[in-house]
Amino acid sequence: MMASSSSSPSPRPSRRLLPVLAVAAAVLLLGPGGGVEARQPPPLHGVRPMAFGEGYTQIFGSANLALRGEGRRVHLSLDEATGAGFASQDLFLHGFFSAAVKLPADYAAGVVVAFYLTNGDRYEKTHDELDFEFLGNVRGREWRVQTNVYGNGSTGAGREERYDLPFDPTDDFHHYSILWTKHRIIFYVDETPIREVARTEAMGAAFPSKPMSLYATIWDGSAWATLGGRYRVDYKYAPFVAQFGDLVMQGCPVSSNPAAAAAPSCGTPWFEAAASLSGEQRRAMAAFRHGHMSYSYCHDRRRYPVALSECDAARLRRLFGPDGMKYGRRGARGRRSDVVM
Ligand SMILES: *[C@@H]1O[C@H](CO)[C@@H](O)[C@H](O)[C@H]1NC(C)=O
Repeated sequence: MMASSSSSPSPRPSRRLLPVLAVAAAVLLLGPGGGVEARQPPPLHGVRPMAFGEGYTQIFGSANLALRGEGRRVHLSLDEATGAGFASQDLFLHGFFSAAVKLPADYAAGVVVAFYLTNGDRYEKTHDELDFEFLGNVRGREWRVQTNVYGNGSTGAGREERYDLPFDPTDDFHHYSILWTKHRIIFYVDETPIREVARTEAMGAAFPSKPMSLYATIWDGSAWATLGGRYRVDYKYAPFVAQFGDLVMQGCPVSSNPAAAAAPSCGTPWFEAAASLSGEQRRAMAAFRHGHMSYSYCHDRRRYPVALSECDAARLRRLFGPDGMKYGRRGARGRRSDVVM
């Protein structure tokens, strides 16, 4: 993805060269893909990744969870017997949660890799959840990534967005991060914020507000993952291995004993400040969403004849069809005249 930048820049001096040098320096510092241990993207600067044993615990999959690199990398695999997963030892009320993930290569239809926060085990009917979900692929096509937000058991009102990534997530590690504060949720892919959910009064409890644990899992999502379940997991290609590294969890831990004080104390956490995006970050986010978002619940008039209250994306609306899918990608999904303005 950076290969094309090697063509020699015009010899014209100063004015043109300076920006070129600046870009080259940024590329060197950030790296195109940021393998594990590479310089971390801005929201992670100076944040120390943890070893598995410092904050996580296996939740299923026995031998399908394997530690590498002195416990700093985790391999989760899916085979015919089982998937695998781990969770944070603590519950958190707000924080910054991140991992560098490298997805299984080749054919992985029906395979779901998820990196998410939830409290579904504690609040069966009123759970909260923040998701990054990677929804398999068929050979020759990219993996699709989905983010979702649930609050207080609002599973009837999914707030999904899907994206195609500007890189091949099976080639190298990329950082996927979730920032959750009292007022704002931001999802990042590497250094780019890709989605921001600002708490509004109208959202009410649909904005996650109870302590959650962090999870990472791989499982068989044959029933729905890849193109609505048309492609099932083919175990001829097993095991499917998802690699996790640069595990970061910086939040306000809450005692898992509900009788103990509910209010966490973690001082004035740095992630509150990180939640206010700069103009440059906002521009990067807008560019990503314009170029890579392939579905948004905000534009899905079949599910939501009236858009949910927090939806205010009139500027992008003309790009999407009445089913919330973007036009002009992978075959027509509707005609222009179908657009609901
Ligand atoms: C969450 O949902 C439950 C059950 O529907 C409801 O009783 C409760 O009032 C909700 N909480 C908030 C803060 O709205």
